[in-house]
Amino acid sequence: MDKNALTIILPTFNEKDNVGPILQGIKNAMNGKGISFDILFVDDSSDETPEEINKQIQINSDINIQMIHRPKEERTGLATAFIEGFKKAQGDYICCLDSDLQHPPSVIPALFEKIVEKKADISVATRYTKGGSAEGLGSLKTFYGVYRRAVSLGFKYFTQIIFIPTRKTSDPLGGFFLFKKSILDGVELYPKGFKILVEVLMRANFDKVVEVPYTFLARENDESKATLKQGLEFFKHLWNIFFTVPEAGRFVKFCIVGGSGVVVNIGILYFLVEFYDLNKNVAWAIAVILSILTNYILNTLFTYGDKKSPTRKESLRRVTLYYLISFFSMIFNWAVFTGVMYFGIHYVLAAFLGILVATAVNFILVTKLVWRL
Ligand code: GDD
Ligand code: MN
Repeated sequence: MDKNALTIILPTFNEKDNVGPILQGIKNAMNGKGISFDILFVDDSSDETPEEINKQIQINSDINIQMIHRPKEERTGLATAFIEGFKKAQGDYICCLDSDLQHPPSVIPALFEKIVEKKADISVATRYTKGGSAEGLGSLKTFYGVYRRAVSLGFKYFTQIIFIPTRKTSDPLGGFFLFKKSILDGVELYPKGFKILVEVLMRANFDKVVEVPYTFLARENDESKATLKQGLEFFKHLWNIFFTVPEAGRFVKFCIVGGSGVVVNIGILYFLVEFYDLNKNVAWAIAVILSILTNYILNTLFTYGDKKSPTRKESLRRVTLYYLISFFSMIFNWAVFTGVMYFGIHYVLAAFLGILVATAVNFILVTKLVWRL
């Protein structure tokens, strides 16, 4: 194994009682594993944690430990602390874990061995596969425990429904993972909140993700620093990703554009009939044709903003095909509508199902054929 293969990043915010134990835990875990590693604290504490870290650096002179202690004005939260750590990390691999002992350091060698053995890019310690547990979130016998676990799972599935790359792991909101540093080459991270793994999964250049189960342990001293504010930050973070990563939530973007198309369609229809007294069928046809065009334009700018049209010929191909697929979807919509009604289902529900299925088919065809993704 090459020298200092791994840098372990430990973020600390007022953790003076945990510094010694976490270092001891890491030493015990890494002992005899033949993995060369160093440790990097990124500290934002306002108590004596930095003094304690310096003391431990003296005591543990057999391992390479460094500390970034950020000045008060640079203490901008956990995510930026990790980014600082990523910049300074020496190892080819980086491991992130909490320094409050909720993430058992004994799992680090398994994360490392698996990523190397499977030639993966990211190795995630997960609470949510066989052998893992989220018991540290609280006992299922208490209201608080049930509540925290429900919130945690709710956030997880919400994230995975919208952001497809986060489905590559069963625990995208956990903070215990190990990755190849090179997946961040040329990648700009926009840190916010607590969930750095989501940020990495959504922006880094990686392919394979592996997992190792672990038990998220209860915190002994103190409360979690995750608060309601953190919850709001989490949604701001997702919002950020949604608008800055083109592939993030593409289907949701497609549906938003589709919704705008409905407004345009009905608006034009109403306008032409009420103010120009146009024949309703003619007005309908014009409204449909124009709303498909506005949908196309908005999808070009918003949903598929990362696939800018290179030539005029290519644009013409895209818009033509877009119209054909749109008409096909309308027929499809109608077919589902009548088909479902045939089985005695209420016509409103039938119409809803028609829209749902046609939108999905439309999205798949448009993504594959028009934008060739
Ligand atoms: N440098 C720095 N700056 N460290 C921080 C900051 C900060 O602003 N805020 C928190 N930390 C450190 C803490 O000292 C701790 O080591 C770690 O980050 C996580 O903070 P906790 O307060 O212990 O968070 P938690 O137990 O609620 O959190 C965690 O939720 C997940 C599971 O639900 C996450 O942080 C995840 O890592 C974890 O898996
Ligand atoms: Mn914690």
